[in-house]
Amino acid sequence: MSSQLPHHPPPEPPFITELRCLRCGATYAPDEIDYVCPHHANEGSDLGSLDVRHDYEAIAAATSPAQIAADRDRSIGRYWALLPIADRHSLSPLAVGNTPLTHASRLGASIGLPNLYVKDDGRNPSASLKDRASAIAVARAQEAGRPVIATASTGNAAAALAAQCAAAGQENVIFVPKTAPQAKIAQLLVYGSTVLAIDGTYDQAFDLCVEACNEFGWYNRNTGYNPYMSEGKKTVSFEIAEQLTPHDSELTQYRVPDAVFVSVGDGCIIGGVHKGFKDLLALGWIERMPRIYGVQSTRSPALYNAWKAGQEIPEPVHADTRADSISVDAPRDPIKALNAVRQTGGAFLAVEDEAILEAMLPLARLGAVFAEPAGATAYAGLVQAVEDGLIRAHETVVVINTGSGLKDVNAAIQVTGGVRVIEPTLEAVRGALEINHSQPTIHQ
Ligand SMILES: Cc1ncc(COP(=O)(O)O)c(C=O)c1O
Ligand SMILES: [Zn+2]
Repeated sequence: MSSQLPHHPPPEPPFITELRCLRCGATYAPDEIDYVCPHHANEGSDLGSLDVRHDYEAIAAATSPAQIAADRDRSIGRYWALLPIADRHSLSPLAVGNTPLTHASRLGASIGLPNLYVKDDGRNPSASLKDRASAIAVARAQEAGRPVIATASTGNAAAALAAQCAAAGQENVIFVPKTAPQAKIAQLLVYGSTVLAIDGTYDQAFDLCVEACNEFGWYNRNTGYNPYMSEGKKTVSFEIAEQLTPHDSELTQYRVPDAVFVSVGDGCIIGGVHKGFKDLLALGWIERMPRIYGVQSTRSPALYNAWKAGQEIPEPVHADTRADSISVDAPRDPIKALNAVRQTGGAFLAVEDEAILEAMLPLARLGAVFAEPAGATAYAGLVQAVEDGLIRAHETVVVINTGSGLKDVNAAIQVTGGVRVIEPTLEAVRGALEINHSQPTIHQ
């Protein structure tokens, strides 16, 4: 080889070319900026959310569907070439991802969809999809040598951060509304986070966390504000594609569902779902995009309203849904969320809180998935979409459950009507179950 040729060392991870503002199109080098595009500071601190852009050639040279399938690490670490971290070993030892995708045939039959699947992300280590993002936040803080990481959260992102920080030995400060369900607050306390319960809304906690990070130099994990959170959440789409595809050691292409349903608060999860499929399409690992459907509560409908009105930025609402994880006045990742739906030919749906709580029952009884209200919201949206004729019967549909039902047991007790208490006698059993001697069937 001639010594005259310029030496080009192969690119090294992370294979990121630039950060691009989704609002004004300004681009930044990956190490130039940590959070949002500074051009929009006067419109609200978080409106210039950044899209992380990749060197797909370098990614394709570094990994492939067959290599990912053969990786013995089943956590999100197997997607290392697509993650915004320099070294997969920067991920904490608390493994995230590899949650089950189940063909929910009885649940599907109940609404005329034989090809219905449920992706149960409540089966992550801290019991929500947010583990995927918090794992990335902690890995990036560790790689950058940042001593303290902070977040504001409706509860799950914080619980996920607390768990990852415990695993990595990372100091962290959490801002949550004091009304967050007890289970989520218990998770924060038990993992040893510094917890500040705010006498106010999630939106106030969010702004306070941004201010505190600026003041004290903490690394900020806030959803929508930190551009790398959708990079963690996108791994759910990689898994959906992989899990829908029969295993094959020569694997080059994944199957893709026709439609994906996901609940929406700030819009970061749905943005991540979209980004994951966009990555796979850019790599040529899938042939087309699924339609992405975002589901909100009618009591927290800011993104649904914006989608319906054709607006780019949603008007804030006064949110008070029982599905606490998606109770958001001013969504913090609106552009990614609206793009996910608009660019894939999906839709936003808004469902009543009663339908959300009721959706927990078929999900559990026919699908064997115990979801918190925000998780069940996605299924409630699918039921409505079927009624509205948005889904054809033969289509492959994936509903993502974003959080475990154990996060909010009061909701489960409420929707089931609670337990019946009886005297400890057989007579009482007979009476309660209306068991009749000639015909021993149980009536409940
Ligand atoms: C269980 C659950 N579902 C859905 C969401 C909504 O995600 P996003 O705020 O990114 O739209 C959250 C966010 O906290 C959540 O915890
Ligand atoms: Zn901008």
